[in-house]
Amino acid sequence: MNISELKQKFSEVFGSKNTLRVFASPGRVNLIGEHTDYNGGHVFPCALSFNTYVLIAKRNDRKIRLFSANFTDKPVIEADLCHIVYDKKQDWANYPLGVLAVLLKREYPIDSGFDILFWGDIPQGAGLSSSASIEVATAYALSSVFDLRIPKFELSKIGQEAENKFVGMNCGIMDQFASAMGKANHAILLDCNTLNYKYAPLDLNGVSILLCNTNKPHNLIESKYNERRSQSEHALQQLQSKLSIKALGELTEEEFEANKELITDPVERKRAKHAVYENQRTLKAAQKLQEGDLSGFGKLMNDSHISLRDDYEVTGAELDAMASAAWEQEGVLGARMTGGGFGGCVVALVQNEHLETFKNNVARIYQAKTGYKPDFYVASAGAGAREIK
Ligand code: GLA
Repeated sequence: MNISELKQKFSEVFGSKNTLRVFASPGRVNLIGEHTDYNGGHVFPCALSFNTYVLIAKRNDRKIRLFSANFTDKPVIEADLCHIVYDKKQDWANYPLGVLAVLLKREYPIDSGFDILFWGDIPQGAGLSSSASIEVATAYALSSVFDLRIPKFELSKIGQEAENKFVGMNCGIMDQFASAMGKANHAILLDCNTLNYKYAPLDLNGVSILLCNTNKPHNLIESKYNERRSQSEHALQQLQSKLSIKALGELTEEEFEANKELITDPVERKRAKHAVYENQRTLKAAQKLQEGDLSGFGKLMNDSHISLRDDYEVTGAELDAMASAAWEQEGVLGARMTGGGFGGCVVALVQNEHLETFKNNVARIYQAKTGYKPDFYVASAGAGAREIK
């Protein structure tokens, strides 16, 4: 839907005469640096040109009404500013309500209700952070409409807090940060230990970032994700008995190898190994990109997938089938799962002249192996959270 169709929809659904404003915030793809954010390491995502759009108008009472133009069969959801609570049945609406709950808890002056409509073109369930984009778009919209003047960077922390405390997914900062701070044609190298970041130009010269959606629903992700997170935290605690570190991301590969026996459980040792090596790989990859060495970058992507498969164990049959089909193709520089795992997308760097054959071959091999029909999208790095005038 375009903006004027969305405005039309807003007035059909809410019939509001109050000033209407429009905001957008994108999904993201992580190029490398997976499951490193909550381990105090580096990530290297870029914002996509797929977005969640938010249309919002203040009300004269304390009612909140929410509607998604993606799920037109679902009714308008109502809530009261004085009583914002999590309700599993409300599904997607828990993301914006969670953001509102965080803002209220932080005592931002939100002094009236509002009508808010959402629509997004981010493929759902593909691990491209449609939920983070809803959170950041909501936070940006509320900050603007209620004149809260929250810096963009802080909006990402508000989105993360909503996800951690309201929705119950212990995610790191990467998705919300990429959505808030994205920049067209750039990736972001973010140090999740310090939150220092740098934009890196994506000069890909004839190479595309291709997203290969497994179309495998990743419904187990929440419990497995939280489990990986606590395994890494436990491994860190054991290393801390000797090392004075705050996060796994502070270790080099050599330091890890010299101390890994402190981690008694072999599974937790593998989890920590992934976090340490993946962080170092991310730094090397950012360097390769800067040098224009896309093949070197691609090889690190492949290593990242293997580590996520064997040590962190978050890939699963579908992501593995997609990645290995990708690795066999002519013109592919590298491919790996992206996001939390257990489904969602593989991200591949593919030379443009081989794109069509790549898609045909990978689709055939992947579908024969798994029974799922994949989808492909060429990604372009888009802008972060913004108002659309
Ligand atoms: C999900 C989380 C992120 C990050 C990735 C894995 O997308 O929301 O914080 O941990 O998984 O890298």
